[in-house]
Amino acid sequence: MKKFLGLILLALSAQSFAQDIAIIPAPSSVVAAKGTFTLNPETNILVDFPDHKAVKLFTEFLKKNGYNNTIVNINATGTKPANVKNAIVLQTTFTGGAVNNENYELKVTENQVVVNGKDAGLFYGIQSLMQMMTPQKKGYATIPCATIKDAPRFAYRGMHLDVSRHFYSVDFIKKYLDVMAMYKLNTFHWHLTDDQGWRIEIKKYPKLTQIGSNRAQTKVGSYSGGTTDGLYDNTPYSGFYTQDQVKEIVAYAAERFINVIPEIEMPGHSVAAISAYPILSCDPSKSYKVAETWGVFTDVYCPTDTTFRILNNILDEVMEMFPSKYIHIGGDECPKDAWKKSGFCQQLIKDSALRDEAGLQSYFIRRIERHINAMGRRMIGWDEILEGGVAPNATIMSWRGENGGIAAAQLNHDVIMTPGSGGLYFDHAQSTNAQEPLSIGGDAPLSKTYNYEPVPSVLNADQAKHIIGVQANLWTEYIATPAKAEFHLLPRMLALSEIAWTPAANKNYKQFSEKRVPKHLAILESKGYNYRVPDIEGVSDTTLKGSDFKFEMNPGVEGAHVYYTIDGHTPRETDMWYTEPLRIKVPAGKKIDFQCITITPGGKRSNLVKMVLDNSGQ
Ligand code: ACM
Repeated sequence: MKKFLGLILLALSAQSFAQDIAIIPAPSSVVAAKGTFTLNPETNILVDFPDHKAVKLFTEFLKKNGYNNTIVNINATGTKPANVKNAIVLQTTFTGGAVNNENYELKVTENQVVVNGKDAGLFYGIQSLMQMMTPQKKGYATIPCATIKDAPRFAYRGMHLDVSRHFYSVDFIKKYLDVMAMYKLNTFHWHLTDDQGWRIEIKKYPKLTQIGSNRAQTKVGSYSGGTTDGLYDNTPYSGFYTQDQVKEIVAYAAERFINVIPEIEMPGHSVAAISAYPILSCDPSKSYKVAETWGVFTDVYCPTDTTFRILNNILDEVMEMFPSKYIHIGGDECPKDAWKKSGFCQQLIKDSALRDEAGLQSYFIRRIERHINAMGRRMIGWDEILEGGVAPNATIMSWRGENGGIAAAQLNHDVIMTPGSGGLYFDHAQSTNAQEPLSIGGDAPLSKTYNYEPVPSVLNADQAKHIIGVQANLWTEYIATPAKAEFHLLPRMLALSEIAWTPAANKNYKQFSEKRVPKHLAILESKGYNYRVPDIEGVSDTTLKGSDFKFEMNPGVEGAHVYYTIDGHTPRETDMWYTEPLRIKVPAGKKIDFQCITITPGGKRSNLVKMVLDNSGQ
């Protein structure tokens, strides 16, 4: 009996160690052990590569958080890490050999912490280590003992941002890259041009930013009807990045092992560029203005030699600024109206023996791909570039569901999965609740994002290898401020990171959302990020019939409280604070108006829940 009890206790305590380890994305393997390592002012940081970006990350983190530890170069000093008690050892001798050296090992014992990985591997090992640290008094932190072996599931782990519809500052982009790096995302897809604004300086074509980065005003509210139909804000809007700023961002990202892929949209979504240079259109005699509302526009690039010369020159400057192997050329949502009306286009279709305007789109993309390939780079396009015949070396981003991605993988093209239907359009609302802010579309709750599986089961093993990764997109038609961008990003980006990194077999939504996300949201809040406060677990807007009710509620953010009222008032910090399972008895013939809300220490609020507890007998 005693032995049996001991086993139960052991099992319970192993479980509680595991709960202390709240790493997102969940690693491939975590073996929790008893005990903790304590970082204290005497702890030395032993490194074999002092200039490594990961060492810089860790030393900056320590300094910023009030730790003042000595860094020791073990090669220069001849130090043998094994002989040093009380050390954090950062090593680059790891020979695990996964893709791009992104894998690492992290071992925590009571005497030492050892993180070992090359390149990005060491950086990611340190991200995991920082997530495991629980600060104590100044200069002290505890780290639970464990052995972690970790490697990414996908080589491409992307987060997109549209800066055309709304412009985001260099500082905001850096903050965005910081949070991507925390969660081991390695690709920033920067959507730099669209109908509503051209946002990157091109020295050869200055009007692209002089004219194309400015719109006279912006549509208010929903673009598709409603009470704000026809309403504009009468306020000029502008913004672009200089080439120096672009290079600064590319370098900042590279410090964090993030590759930046620029997107220069063509042949559609090009009204801003056409406004600056009407010669790019099929009717240069018309005058054009940068779009003031959202949607898809019929003024698109005309496939003339002049257009290709200009676009190739633009791409050459872009490739100078971005070392990325991949260059994104858009290719989505290109209406064919202008090409149908254009004598030039119709003649080109005949002369080039193209079937129709879809063939002309394919001709356009192939011609651009030849230029990109000639410069030693690879082209990415949205899945419309499959129409009329895919360009020979293109990588496809599957956004209109998975069919484009499946077709491309079957044609042996690489694919990045980013379907709106998979909860990867972060501009969509996070629930169907009317309290969600104005959003461009649908319902993409955290659970939907989390449960997305990027490899469609119809693919065979060889085809499945072409799914190189997964990405979420943040389109900003209705996202005009950093606070709203972060609200739409978080916590869904944490779910994206787990789809992209964690072996599918290790995923567990309940454990993720109930145990790990609440801790991370508290940390993100302390770092100054906005986020959507999760819905309160255990209650929902509904009417319940009966006389005797019991609720267990979970606030979803560590340190936050659920406040409630039973008198019809909107709950605030001054109302009752939920601390233990709540019993409410409703007298016969009465109804109780129960309302609750989560409020975080920083004052962020969840959606308000209203529940009627009805014992009226009707
Ligand atoms: C897209 O969402 N139009 C790629």
